[in-house]
Amino acid sequence: CSRSLQTSTSDHHPSDFAFAFDIDGVLLRSHDPIPGAREALSFLQAQKIPFILLTNGGGKHESERVAELMDKLQIPLDTSMFVQSHTPFADLEQYKDKTILVVGGEEDKCRHVANAYGFKSVVTPADIMVQYPSIWPFSSQFLDYYQETADPLPSPIDAANPEGSLKVDAIFVYNDPRDWGLDATIILDLLLSRSGIMGTVSPKNNNPDLPNRGYLQEGQPHLYYSNPDLWWAAKFHLPRLGQGAFREALEGLWTAVTGGEKKGVTLQKTLIGKPYHMTYDFAERKLIKHREDLFSGTETNPLRQVYMIGDNPESDIRGGNSFRSPLGTKWSTILVKTGVHQTGHPAWEPTTITKDVYEAVKWALHRES
Ligand code: G3P
Ligand code: MG
Repeated sequence: CSRSLQTSTSDHHPSDFAFAFDIDGVLLRSHDPIPGAREALSFLQAQKIPFILLTNGGGKHESERVAELMDKLQIPLDTSMFVQSHTPFADLEQYKDKTILVVGGEEDKCRHVANAYGFKSVVTPADIMVQYPSIWPFSSQFLDYYQETADPLPSPIDAANPEGSLKVDAIFVYNDPRDWGLDATIILDLLLSRSGIMGTVSPKNNNPDLPNRGYLQEGQPHLYYSNPDLWWAAKFHLPRLGQGAFREALEGLWTAVTGGEKKGVTLQKTLIGKPYHMTYDFAERKLIKHREDLFSGTETNPLRQVYMIGDNPESDIRGGNSFRSPLGTKWSTILVKTGVHQTGHPAWEPTTITKDVYEAVKWALHRES
């Protein structure tokens, strides 16, 4: 790059500022590195200025994704500096000994991620489709593909013997579903079931004397989403629909079937990922731990400032702007034009806007010098 990065932040050493980099649309477009990305990250590493990668992407174990990023960006990375959409799910101990449905991603990679997180009983829509192809007749053409990665179900779907039927205690969307019809059908079956027992239907709350606790009496399996992005920057020149689009479609079905919020019907769900506080708080704690490791044995001041560099105003800028660090760390946001946001005035006001990630790092270093 003709542009050069400089820093005269020696008086900050060890650096009391750090970076959080979004991936899609900032460092990569699908598998292709964005010009200047490798140079920017390797300069920070040479200057021992800490950074983490914070993405709404996922679908593979952190170790697998980091290995791929190292190969694409040609710089050393490790999982201590990496947070993806479903990383925080690893902390949900209450489901580790229960049966969960994991939706999304290629083949059954997300099952293996959940197993690696410690979830012992993981079912996928493919497992159900292979055993019960009539559950969604329109995916029967994909049965050969599903058979390659399906596992046996822990219990059958047995409407005649509900107590012995497959019971799902929580539903997780780990990554973008590849078969929206199959995945939406199975999630909806579970949400409408009696306490997560596949093949049953919860008695509708038709009793006018009951407080309208909604469509389900109790035990609705909790639905966890890992990424709210309606759009994301892939290889195509225009943004592509993300996991947030699947959520909108699924909840459109939920409302059509149950009447939804207007009828006082609540969907028990949790959304994580950028822009939500939980994900930024999780990322900040990981960044601070990574910084401690980087400067191990050296006296350091507390982390003062983080620069969040992203391409999506709705997740990266909105999240970075609204995050109030419990540790008092200041977060500033830099919007780049290499991803979802291209031109015009963004819906969420960043600290600054730059052409690309290289200029973003240059701007921040100048501000710190
Ligand atoms: O599925 C990935 C997409 O939603 C955006 O990822 O890296 O821009 O947060 P990222
Ligand atoms: Mg992005």
